[in-house]
Amino acid sequence: MELMYTGKTKNVYKLPDGMFLLKFKDDMTGKDGVFDPGSNQIGLTVKGAGQSGLRLTAFFFEKLKEKGIPTHYIDSDPEAATMTVKPAKPFGNGLEVICRYRAVGSFHRRYGDYIEEGAALDAFVEVTLKDDQRQDPPISEDALDMLGILSKKDFSTLKALTQEIASLVKALLAAKGLDLYDIKFEFGKSDDRILLIDEISGGNMRVFREGKPVEPFELENIMLSL
Ligand SMILES: Nc1ncnc2c1ncn2[C@@H]1O[C@H](COP(=O)(O)OP(=O)(O)OP(=O)(O)O)[C@@H](O)[C@H]1O
Ligand SMILES: [Mg+2]
Repeated sequence: MELMYTGKTKNVYKLPDGMFLLKFKDDMTGKDGVFDPGSNQIGLTVKGAGQSGLRLTAFFFEKLKEKGIPTHYIDSDPEAATMTVKPAKPFGNGLEVICRYRAVGSFHRRYGDYIEEGAALDAFVEVTLKDDQRQDPPISEDALDMLGILSKKDFSTLKALTQEIASLVKALLAAKGLDLYDIKFEFGKSDDRILLIDEISGGNMRVFREGKPVEPFELENIMLSL
């Protein structure tokens, strides 16, 4: 297996048949031991975090498969904390697409003069560049098109997919009494088709229960218990 990329929370390997293997690590984003899905650095390492993230990711990707939503998911190995996926080409150096139901995190930090923290948002979609050095700057549809990163046509596909997937995740959480505040996705292209890639775990969403944040381990426990 060839190591293609060492990420913050996952390593990416190329399998002999050309597929990619994502290995989920026990590292979590945050600061000084405190988890934060909006952070771009490793803040803590917890034994079993990789397996937990993989299990929840596999759960959501299986649900998306049932709905016929195009994703990179092929299969997963919960013990090894790995997932086999179709390789996809990122847009530019990679984009993050965020769907927001509440004004929290970076949204509220930017626009706090105009909106109260926690105010409801209507599946508001925002795109940021994956660029750690520039703190993942938000980017507009026009700028994405002008810079040759994402065409207007692909933007509208991406936005519709984002809202569809976020609303499915939100409904699955709601069925367990959980409230989705925001969620971050990545997309890529394969055979000229836009696919959801990467992961869907506690590491890329903010979830609350009765107004209190639900941490990734607890989220996995709640979602995967009968
Ligand atoms: N199907 C896929 N094809 C190609 N690349 C993928 C695919 N799925 C995920 N990736 C990429 O694999 C990497 C996974 O590693 P990891 O999540 O640790 O990334 P990171 O960029 O270091 O951190 P983060 O995205 O959390 O800021 C990411 O760069 C992601 O974009
Ligand atoms: Mg990542």
